Amino acid sequence: MTFEILLVVVKATHAAGIIVWSGALLATPGLMAQRPRDSGPDLDRLHRMARRLYVNWASPAAFVAIATGTALIFLRETFVAWFSLKMLVVSALLMVHVGTGVVMLKVFAPEGRIRRVSGVALTASGMISVIAILWVVLAKPAIDVDAIAGALFAPGAFEPGALGRGFRAVGLSSLSPSATP
Ligand code: HEM
Repeated sequence: MTFEILLVVVKATHAAGIIVWSGALLATPGLMAQRPRDSGPDLDRLHRMARRLYVNWASPAAFVAIATGTALIFLRETFVAWFSLKMLVVSALLMVHVGTGVVMLKVFAPEGRIRRVSGVALTASGMISVIAILWVVLAKPAIDVDAIAGALFAPGAFEPGALGRGFRAVGLSSLSPSATP
């Protein structure tokens, strides 16, 4: 197998893993919101369906996305700043994944119920994470790590007023504490 074919196979598997992982994760809160109040066959069927989606689809797909993503790090040598930003946002998606599992345990407990705010928070944070990851990966923003490190560790960086100077230096003077009346 040539390198190019290997790269295509790993990238396609990465994309497939991401599609199934994100899709299953985003669909789960909506399923949990259907929980009937009373126990019975309807509740049992919904419980089986939601668990199957999470355990049999979302979790293995997350494993596939992460394993192939890790392989791609070495195949594509992505030792660049935007990739660290991507990993930060991927960690947010992982937290949404774990949060969904915790909420599911509570929702399907006897007398369990999903609070509207939990369902909306899970769906919104999942969507924001997925969109943010896609943006970072496709836009590959140029991040000047040297400038950030230079500003962080410049002499006097921890003096009172240094934060405002930093904001003004990067053109965010409205965020500078001295700009507030
Ligand atoms: C631990 C998890 C992950 C790792 C280690 C990882 C790593 C990588 C690497 C190294 C690449 C190759 C970049 C390049 O070719 O320049 C890549 C491509 C890609 N990743 Fe991930 N990834 C992960 C999770 C995700 C997630 C959760 C998403 C979306 C929700 C995602 C979306 C993409 C897309 C769309 C590409 C193709 C970009 C392109 O070809 O330009 N990845 N990933």
